[in-house]
Amino acid sequence: MLNPSAFKILLVEDNPGDARLTRALLSEVEGARFDFTHVECLGSALEAVERQSFDVVLLDLSLPDEHGLATVERLRNRAPRLPVVVLSGLNDETVAIEAVQSGAQDYLVKGQGSGELIMRALRYAIERKRGELLLLDAKEKAELANRAKSEFLANMSHELRTPLNAIIGFSEILKDEMLGPSGEPRYRAYAQDIHDSATHLLEVINDILDISKIETGKFEIREGVVAVPRVVDACVRLVQGRAAEAGVALTVEVSDELPPLRADERMVKQILLNLLSNAVKFTPKGGSVTVSAAVNDGALEIIVADTGIGIAEADIPKVMTPFFQVDSSFNKKFPGTGLGLPLANAMTELHGGTLRLQSTVSVGTTATVRFPAERLRRDRATPGVEGMRTPTPRDG
Ligand SMILES: Nc1ncnc2c1ncn2[C@@H]1O[C@H](COP(=O)(O)OP(=O)(O)O)[C@@H](O)[C@H]1O
Ligand SMILES: [Mg+2]
Repeated sequence: MLNPSAFKILLVEDNPGDARLTRALLSEVEGARFDFTHVECLGSALEAVERQSFDVVLLDLSLPDEHGLATVERLRNRAPRLPVVVLSGLNDETVAIEAVQSGAQDYLVKGQGSGELIMRALRYAIERKRGELLLLDAKEKAELANRAKSEFLANMSHELRTPLNAIIGFSEILKDEMLGPSGEPRYRAYAQDIHDSATHLLEVINDILDISKIETGKFEIREGVVAVPRVVDACVRLVQGRAAEAGVALTVEVSDELPPLRADERMVKQILLNLLSNAVKFTPKGGSVTVSAAVNDGALEIIVADTGIGIAEADIPKVMTPFFQVDSSFNKKFPGTGLGLPLANAMTELHGGTLRLQSTVSVGTTATVRFPAERLRRDRATPGVEGMRTPTPRDG
């Protein structure tokens, strides 16, 4: 495209003297040929770039029909891939610099310099624009690919969930011998295994579905009123068995006086469960895990602290990204997909809150979930929020 013997230049200049000078200077450049199209106002320039292609535009910033930065902007909107070299007068060089900052590739001060200098500016502008476009194209491709991946994940997880419902439902009937005894104890045990595996698989698929929804911006919170002590209790009960098996002490320090939290209960549970299961999973025998919740500076803080293996400082931002797991012997021993923390983080952020990890290797990790003060105020409830209604006799 860059053929120095035939530069196609669009010269946008209303002053005939300036236009003549530019052309004269360029004609002195040895070994180069120019194919000029000269127009005198922005309107004609906009038409010209529609009709034919140019290698570069030389653009005066004060034209009869437009002036200053808007000149560059309007041209760029019409021909976003076209390199632009701005022509400025001696007295408006600052505007020219601003033009370069806002998208032109270079500028020249009229009446200064030689044909060679102008030529160099043109070449440079073309190369700079080319580099810019390559980057832009690469970025667009990456974004497209990422969106395709998220959509694929969402569709796949949806398809996988449907048959799992049958597997879970029927294995439950078999393991509980709901339709009569199976007569062979191993059948019951196998049905239990099928049920456990399928339930685990469903959890993994739900995580993947959630993360892909978050990435495509389709995740929404369903606000209600959450009694935090009750949710903490429910989550603790779910990991108690695992903690006992692993020889990890589990302590709860939650006051019953906590104000109700305006939040999506499923998400609060998921956040807490993800943090708790990590704390239990990454704490060796003899260690402890403590869950506490309190109002701090008006905000509600739920803290899960463990005395486990810890996370190196450099890994803390990484564990918040999907699918990342620190490479440790612990990770090899336990199942996991690397989605727990990114999900907990995203769900907290959907509530306007923050999730912070503090950790020291071999000492332990503290995860702090902070819900903003406005989520504790009753008066800010959105209309129709479940649980906020005054109970009527019909509600029982
Ligand atoms: N409490 C913790 N102590 C030590 N390491 C942790 C802790 N929580 C998370 N990690 C590290 O962060 C990684 C990502 O955690 P998570 O997103 O929950 O995924 P998963 O638990 O499925 O591996 C874990 O694999 C582990 O390496
Ligand atoms: Mg986890």
